Amino acid sequence: MSKIILTGDRPTGRLHIGHYVGSLRRRVQLQNEGGYDKMFVFIADAQALTDNADNPDKVRENVIEVALDYLSVGLDPAKTCIFIQSQIPELCELSFYYMNMVTVSRLQRNPTVKTEIQQRGFGGESIPVGFFTYPISQAADITAFDATTVPVGEDQKPMLEQTCEIVRRFNHIYGETLVEPAILLPDNAACMRLPGTDGKAKMSKSLGNCIYLSDDSATLKKKVMSMYTDPEHIHVEDPGHLEGNAVFTYLDAFCRPEHFAEFWPEYESLDALKAHYTRGGLGDMKVKKFLLKILDAELAPIRARRKQYEQDIPAVYEMLRRGSEEARAKAAETLARVRRAMRIDYFDDQELIDAQAKKYKQQA
Ligand code: TRP
Repeated sequence: MSKIILTGDRPTGRLHIGHYVGSLRRRVQLQNEGGYDKMFVFIADAQALTDNADNPDKVRENVIEVALDYLSVGLDPAKTCIFIQSQIPELCELSFYYMNMVTVSRLQRNPTVKTEIQQRGFGGESIPVGFFTYPISQAADITAFDATTVPVGEDQKPMLEQTCEIVRRFNHIYGETLVEPAILLPDNAACMRLPGTDGKAKMSKSLGNCIYLSDDSATLKKKVMSMYTDPEHIHVEDPGHLEGNAVFTYLDAFCRPEHFAEFWPEYESLDALKAHYTRGGLGDMKVKKFLLKILDAELAPIRARRKQYEQDIPAVYEMLRRGSEEARAKAAETLARVRRAMRIDYFDDQELIDAQAKKYKQQA
């Protein structure tokens, strides 16, 4: 069976380092290692509109931001098909058919949707239908491309489960047609859910605790130096705590063994550094400076690449247009398969026409 990787992001803001360790870095790695048949990465503007219907400009403007972020981390349009969700109308048609495979109560039980409904203050019956049903459209996103592997964060787990249920139900009714995808989660807990710079559970634009991939060096420095650490670690001699300490969580997500030789040869490993910190005698500032060096080394080439692409915005749109065309061709194939399976391919089904003709001839 072929291996098809697919994932996407809502264009509601620039992408941050939480997106990076949660999924972007993995995508680039997969892209460059090869060993799969095709990778699709898309900008989920139609999904973003499900709870930003009154804010089309925000979505529209962030499409290009996300595209620039993609290119700047190293996604390569020569290897990876990058496209815009709304440009693939086949996805809407698939969603419409999948709606018959899902109950209202099943959607109500989707934990991610539940949380989002609370966060957005949609009370009771005032949830937009489009928002409520976006897990169905997400199943269309995934199955339209026969995706087998979906690299996303933990919060997307319920979406993947929902997709698999739709696939199974569809295949049960109409015969083997759709491919069941598997989720690909980050391999370490820090990457799974990177906290904000304030130590809050999640990096999120609305909390103002993000480090963006496009932040310049001075902004990065300011953000790292004011990061939340351990409130009980007041004097250098005090023992420090790692639990909930955002600086150490970021180190778990970004630090590689070679960073010690390069930036802080006094320590041989992250474990040694942690041991000193918890023992006491190691100040937060020193650890933050180390983290800053690591982040700066990781983000500098990303920033530089972004600057280059920013110089040729029309070319970025052109890349998206081509990617969308390629994606549309693939989605159209799947849709034809789905229509055939659902027996709504009347005009291509000579057998149906012949059978009906025969039936009426016999009656005459
Ligand atoms: N829900 C995802 C997010 O909020 C975006 C998304 C839409 C997606 N469709 C998808 C991710 C399909 C993976 C596969 O970021």
